[in-house]
Amino acid sequence: MKRSRINEIIREGDAFIRSFGYVMPPFAYWSPEELKTRRPAGIVDSRLGWDITDYGQGKYDELGLFLFTVRNGRAEDLTRGTGMLYAEKIMISRKDQLSPMHRHIVKAEDIINRGGGKLVLELFMPAEDGGIDRHKEVEVPTDGVVRKLPAGGLLKLDPGESVTLLPGVWHAFWGEGGDVLIGEVSTVNDDLTDNIFADPIGRFSNIEEDEAPLRLLVSDYDRFIDGNA
Ligand SMILES: [Fe+2]
Repeated sequence: MKRSRINEIIREGDAFIRSFGYVMPPFAYWSPEELKTRRPAGIVDSRLGWDITDYGQGKYDELGLFLFTVRNGRAEDLTRGTGMLYAEKIMISRKDQLSPMHRHIVKAEDIINRGGGKLVLELFMPAEDGGIDRHKEVEVPTDGVVRKLPAGGLLKLDPGESVTLLPGVWHAFWGEGGDVLIGEVSTVNDDLTDNIFADPIGRFSNIEEDEAPLRLLVSDYDRFIDGNA
């Protein structure tokens, strides 16, 4: 995916988010140079910030997701059982843009339709070995009310509605009828280790540097800020 396209997606996504009255934190607008110079551990090491992914497949409009991690806790606090155990993201799923089937090992997440089109989630329960159970009925809490669906059933969330996905529950999602602003409230987030995909794909974009980055992506931090190739 070209850097120029990522820059364009950031500009469009920022305008879409603002159109709903959601305002991003100040560091969202820091230049790459400012982020590198100031290097707050609470941003860089917690991996807060922009995350535009095509899952390494180079077809963002069909397979991709716009994410911005607004806050993120500490894995060691999870082990201690107290402290900053939570995370928040704001995301955009475009109309018919798939976020592919995956599950999490540690993270429980509430996925919230914050506005726009319908958010459709395809859901499966985990089998004994963690794989997809293609027969078991799906049971998920939706705003405090348990909803039951057949395996692979489609849960459609209107603006304002949300679903709680406990670790292990398989999910894929996309926008229907329009682009969707999505909120995520979750347990501490680690995108380096806690995404298990049904298909062999990556979690981040492979970037072709055809212009300078407008903003650094979380997946750029290692190379651009800490100088690791
Ligand atoms: Fe997820």
